[in-house]
Amino acid sequence: MRILVTGGSGFLGGVCRDLLAQRRDARVFLLRSGHRADYANTSAASYTAPSSLNANDLALLLEPLAITHILHLGALSSAEMCEHDPNEALRANVTLTHMVANYASRIGAHLTTVSTDLVFDGAMATSSGFSEQDIPHSISVYGLSKLSAERATLQTPSNTVVRTSLLYGHSPSSSKGVLGWMENAFREGNPLSLFADEYRTPVHVVDAARALLAITEHRLSGLWHCGGPRRLSRTEFGELVARGLGYDTSLIRPVSRISSPTLPARPEDVSLNSERLWSTLAERPREVLEALRPSR
Ligand SMILES: NC(=O)c1ccc[n+]([C@@H]2O[C@H](COP(=O)([O-])OP(=O)(O)OC[C@H]3O[C@@H](n4cnc5c(N)ncnc54)[C@H](OP(=O)(O)O)[C@@H]3O)[C@@H](O)[C@H]2O)c1
Repeated sequence: MRILVTGGSGFLGGVCRDLLAQRRDARVFLLRSGHRADYANTSAASYTAPSSLNANDLALLLEPLAITHILHLGALSSAEMCEHDPNEALRANVTLTHMVANYASRIGAHLTTVSTDLVFDGAMATSSGFSEQDIPHSISVYGLSKLSAERATLQTPSNTVVRTSLLYGHSPSSSKGVLGWMENAFREGNPLSLFADEYRTPVHVVDAARALLAITEHRLSGLWHCGGPRRLSRTEFGELVARGLGYDTSLIRPVSRISSPTLPARPEDVSLNSERLWSTLAERPREVLEALRPSR
């Protein structure tokens, strides 16, 4: 496999880079946006894409690499930033994906694009979570831009979209994700307000990255949900993280999203039903306590 990764400096990208670096049968190339600088632990060749690049330029830039697979993680991934700068959200999440999809189809490479549970608005959630058959409807600029990116990717039916949920864990990236700020608060003994009425299916970043790479390698086409094993409120998740990391859960203060409005508005329940993916891969994502258990 000769794989081109976008967003390789990011939280998920750092873990994917690490996993790919352990494989002898993968040649890894990174297409960089220049939005982050940390590429400490990679031996992969990297190419910087100016924002004006189009699919033709990209083909010329990368022609000699004989890419067979593309893992597209690059995005403006903060829902808050997308809401404040819709033009940049459109450029980073939609235009860039169109360009990568056109390039993939031009060179005959398989494209996997990572998307989000926030393509759902949380209405009509069921206790088993949203499945791939459920019709998405987003209420945020981020969710809408990722939905457009999904459509651009799936214009080629052999391509793949993987929707993931809240990712947690440690990454070699400078981006530390949700665990970063939770751990800081616990360490410093600061109270942590977490929504008791917002539900997702958190998945450890290593479990999600492994699944993504398997999907990519085996060219599993179409739409896949890649959430964790359990629907958890932010409060329940925080309590498990505190226990997993050996901190006191009494610092956690349950609050309601209704009484703390945010921009964009936070959907109540965007849990994913990911049974199809995990049974196809014959794997299970780890429970939070298991995933955070120190390795011996
Ligand atoms: N983290 C989560 O909980 C979560 C949940 C659901 C879905 N996702 C999706 O998973 C993917 C990876 O997320 P992540 O958490 O790893 O994100 P991240 O840490 O923010 O990394 C995203 C990467 O995209 C590139 N990038 C940043 N801003 C950009 C811009 N304006 N234009 C173009 N490229 C830009 C950068 O990589 P380079 O410097 O290498 O170009 C950056 O490191 C995204 O598609 C995100 O939407 C994440």
